[in-house]
Amino acid sequence: MAYAVEIQNIIKKFPSVTAVNDVTFNVDEGEIFGLLGPNGAGKTTLIRILTCIMKPTSGQAKIREFDVVRYPARVRRNIGVVSQAMTSDLDLTAWENMNIYAKYFDLPKKQRKENISYLLKIVELEDRAKDLVATYSGGMRRRLEIARGLVHRPYILFLDEPTIGLDPQSRRVIWDLLQKIRKETNLTIFITTHYMDEADVLCDRIAIIDYGKIVAMDSPSNLKRSIGGFDIIEVSLSNFTPSVMERLKAMKFIKEVAEKEGALRISVEDAAKSMPVLIEEFKKMGVSILYLAIHEQSLEDVFIHYTGKTIREAEAQKVNMFLGAGVPRQLPGSRI
Ligand SMILES: Nc1ncnc2c1ncn2[C@@H]1O[C@H](COP(=O)(O)OP(=O)(O)OP(=O)(O)O)[C@@H](O)[C@H]1O
Ligand SMILES: [Mg+2]
Repeated sequence: MAYAVEIQNIIKKFPSVTAVNDVTFNVDEGEIFGLLGPNGAGKTTLIRILTCIMKPTSGQAKIREFDVVRYPARVRRNIGVVSQAMTSDLDLTAWENMNIYAKYFDLPKKQRKENISYLLKIVELEDRAKDLVATYSGGMRRRLEIARGLVHRPYILFLDEPTIGLDPQSRRVIWDLLQKIRKETNLTIFITTHYMDEADVLCDRIAIIDYGKIVAMDSPSNLKRSIGGFDIIEVSLSNFTPSVMERLKAMKFIKEVAEKEGALRISVEDAAKSMPVLIEEFKKMGVSILYLAIHEQSLEDVFIHYTGKTIREAEAQKVNMFLGAGVPRQLPGSRI
């Protein structure tokens, strides 16, 4: 099977920085693939290359077997793009915004009408289709831009930080929406984000990018597993005794148990799987649980492991995120 996206040794150099530094990976058809990285990591630059807005300095990229430099027109037919900055026209209605795009792709009138109604329904904007976009909230505008990116029924949708600046509820609505669209249409989704939770919930696979280099790539669960370490289950028990401790230590799935002032920290490989078994065991032992908390490994831990910093530290030299690409960033060692 052909790949939806093939990227081979892509390098993009600007006068003051190498924004994308020898990146190679493939994206399967129907996959939701996430490019996760802090400000200035090179996400937008890579998306611009894949969507024929910018040429790479060297290397090769193909969209459904079409080289992005040699066949930009064919590539454009195959892809939809939702760029980092909001680009829907405030002075037009949602319908008009979509219709302009549909015309650009030469869709016949009937097809335009069908596609626009179908997509506005999916993004739950059909009631607001005739309202000016100026009256929309940020989340609604983003939903419209996703629908607009799909108006010519592309195979691959590129989204550059689609939920940036949105409130948690609107972000969740967009995640649900993207999952729904993928299920209904087998669309391939290529998304960039600097939100760990977004990448974790949404993506089948993630590539972590830092200073233009891919530092790790796998499914969210494999990435978490790859850094070793364990999930921690914290419990306080009503009648904790040394014999409880002995029994816990004898259980195979428990890697370590530490006790402090009656509270236990139990290390396991997979908290979600271990929890029911553990609760059952406590029942058998006749102890009841007073308090319970789970600390699962997160992509934050993965990011720290591979880059040596938290994503928030990496974001400390924040630029105005709504500007998108093009804001010069200091090189490592000369952080602002
Ligand atoms: N047109 C350009 N000219 C010069 N430098 C650029 C240009 N576009 C991007 N850069 C630089 O390339 C690096 C990568 O930028 P890019 O916008 O791709 O990062 P990003 O991961 O999308 O960041 P953000 O999360 O802020 O959107 C940065 O150092 C940026 O300043
Ligand atoms: Mg960007």
